Amino acid sequence: MNVVILAAGMGKRMRSDLPKVLHPLAGKPLLAHVVDCARSLGPGRIVIVYGHGGEAVPRAIAGEDLLWALQEPQLGTGHAVMQALPHLDPAAPTLVLYGDVPLIGRDTLARLLAAAGSGRLGLLTVELPDPEGYGRVLREGGRIVRIVEHKDADDDARAIREVNTGIVVAPTAALARWLGALSNDNAQKEYYLTDVVAAAVHDGIGVVSAQPADACETLGVNSKAQLAALERVFQHRLAGRLMDEGVQLADPARLDVRGELTCGRDVAIDVNCVFEGKVEIGDGASIGAHCVIRDTRIGAGAQILPFTLIESSSIGARARIGPYARLRPGTELGEETHVGNFVEMKNTRMAAKSKANHLSYLGDTTVGERVNIGAGTITCNYDGANKYQTVIEDDAFIGSDTQLVAPVRVGRGATLGAGTTLTRDAPEHKLTMSRTQQTTVESWKRPVKKPARKP
Ligand code: UD1
Ligand code: CA
Repeated sequence: MNVVILAAGMGKRMRSDLPKVLHPLAGKPLLAHVVDCARSLGPGRIVIVYGHGGEAVPRAIAGEDLLWALQEPQLGTGHAVMQALPHLDPAAPTLVLYGDVPLIGRDTLARLLAAAGSGRLGLLTVELPDPEGYGRVLREGGRIVRIVEHKDADDDARAIREVNTGIVVAPTAALARWLGALSNDNAQKEYYLTDVVAAAVHDGIGVVSAQPADACETLGVNSKAQLAALERVFQHRLAGRLMDEGVQLADPARLDVRGELTCGRDVAIDVNCVFEGKVEIGDGASIGAHCVIRDTRIGAGAQILPFTLIESSSIGARARIGPYARLRPGTELGEETHVGNFVEMKNTRMAAKSKANHLSYLGDTTVGERVNIGAGTITCNYDGANKYQTVIEDDAFIGSDTQLVAPVRVGRGATLGAGTTLTRDAPEHKLTMSRTQQTTVESWKRPVKKPARKP
């Protein structure tokens, strides 16, 4: 089979510099959703017709299996499919999809393809309560005879509620012949793909129809409002699947997954969390409200408390993170670690049972096991030009408000006194601190406010 995806249209109503088919749905371009669905059918060729937005479209959509056909100017859907013809295998049928109809499902297409076989024309149609704007499916004695576009339709045709979704499958050699004979003598002065239906009927080729499992599958995106509506449909379905798998969602309407979320047993997710990229959550872990988690593995039984942001990190089993923690790329936390509020970490490994509970920055740091990082600890890892490493060995205790000026090492079991600015390595099992002498000025008097002078 060949698949042609039409993606040349301009998308004027999006009011955007980004080509319409590149707008993201669930974190992925609309067109990429359609390409993935096409791939799931295992076609011999996938040809994408592009035009508006130019090379930005092929550049954004990866795949060595994809063929590209430029349509310039854009003279209608029939003209668009014509541009793909040189790439198609004439011996196999051709399925036409739309780059701006992202929720189309594999099962629906499989049913359409089965209905059409290799010799018939298959149309995906749907009954709509409000068919305004769509091409209407005209039948005689139950048989499809042609499609008339809304703008070309008379009142009788406009009363028909069965509409053309645009998705069709056709025998390729015949399709090429029908397209070659299209005219643009219609209300929009366009070459309509839909006119191939009447041509097939004229040639005595059977025309069959199939309907989508869910009408949402055929909804297109023409505006930001429609994009947002389809995003909700997508997220709602995905939330349903997660709950079927046993994930406890506080509110399925307040979850956003922009990528691939995999959950173990008894995972609980509170409201308004966003998951991006590839996220794995282990058995019994819980995610508090308002967390954003990207490309991260979370171990079994870990608790991520509210308002935590985690990127490209891994969190050990039974760790407790947040509230208000920020874990930047390269953070690796061992089992039963604790990272509390207003702690930022980057490119930092912290081994089992270590804690950084309050107000700290740990960058380019290796922390051993059972280490306590006091409140207000800062690793000074950057001198304005280069980054340096800090190493804190097992069982060290870092007093509050300490600066570790990297590169520097704190030995095993060492203690740093509160307020230390550490510029040289701290030896094992000793107390190290840098502090100016505390003094009390006996003669000092607190200033008092001068009385206001009269004018
Ligand atoms: C088309 C169908 C109509 C159907 C409707 C479903 C035709 C003539 N009409 O109408 O029967 O009910 O879809 O949504 O086919 N495109 C190109 N190049 C072009 C023109 C369009 O690539 O020259 C692409 C667009 O980017 C879009 C798709 O084809 O993805 C549909 O084009 P659009 O102009 O929206 O067709 P409709 O008028 O909605
Ligand atoms: Ca349309």
